[in-house]
Amino acid sequence: MSASDTRHRLVYTARLPEPIERELHERYDAIRIERADLARLDAGIEALVVMPSTPLRVTAIQSLPASIRIIASYSVGTDHIDLAAAAARGLPVTNTPDVLTDATADIAMLLILSACRQASRAERELRAGRWRGLSMADVPGIDLAGRSLGIFGFGRIGQATARRARAFGMRIVYHGPQRKPDAERALEARFEPDRKAFLQTIDVLSLHAPATAATRHFIDRETLALLRKGSVVVNTARGPLVDDAALIEALRSRHLHAAGLDVYDGEPAVNPGYLELDNVTLLPHIGSATIETRVAMGERVLANLAAYFAGQPLPNEVRLPGAPRTPE
Ligand code: DGY
Repeated sequence: MSASDTRHRLVYTARLPEPIERELHERYDAIRIERADLARLDAGIEALVVMPSTPLRVTAIQSLPASIRIIASYSVGTDHIDLAAAAARGLPVTNTPDVLTDATADIAMLLILSACRQASRAERELRAGRWRGLSMADVPGIDLAGRSLGIFGFGRIGQATARRARAFGMRIVYHGPQRKPDAERALEARFEPDRKAFLQTIDVLSLHAPATAATRHFIDRETLALLRKGSVVVNTARGPLVDDAALIEALRSRHLHAAGLDVYDGEPAVNPGYLELDNVTLLPHIGSATIETRVAMGERVLANLAAYFAGQPLPNEVRLPGAPRTPE
């Protein structure tokens, strides 16, 4: 029997940082496949390493070979995986929490700044050769200091964004299912449990909640109408939180000053309506895209796989609320 016959077999579905790919190949009989090939995996593959660009819905999970024993997601979000279908097959799912908090909060702050100050529009003008010199009338931005930042989803990334915004002189108001008294004190934040009151009191809205049935289209026509004229919306969470048609309309009519987006419903497709607007900054889902963070995420993936194959508790198992831990 050769050495590779004794190694666990796994597949992954996208290029990974070089040190992580190297490590995966050293430890496992690993192959990178195209997303489409997930539907015809070899029997004998034991682990799947996927990312949000690889949706694993019910049918995909049901058609995985019986040899698959674990799904390790190279992401903190797991909305691309049908957790109930995985649980029904007894497949543990792991993720990569904590390590991308700062990188993602940096991108949220970058989008808040870019949207308020119209930075990407100004850069596009310059690159197109349309800058005619300093003028006191061009690129009218809005100040951050003294404005209220509304955070929807006051978890790790929401709080890290609030921490940064405090340094820019912003006031923090948050909304979500749960009050977080410690974070509230530390960040001098105010909890607003009423959705309508929350929306009516803020100037900038930053989304940090996971994509669930309850958060789908949190930003819709009604939400946008409740925001004050001249507000800003930023999304570094997940595309489905936003009804694109409604947001595009609010930007086009200038009800909103601007928006900043890093994630899109149906990405990598981007609603073409956004591309025509000059008051939206569009990034290609780069919240976690620093070298250090992407490597740290990979280390989490490796740690989860190692624990699984050693029969140890999984460091980052994602369970449906109320579901028991997958038996080792
Ligand atoms: C995540 O981890 O969920 C991000 O969206 C991608 O890194």
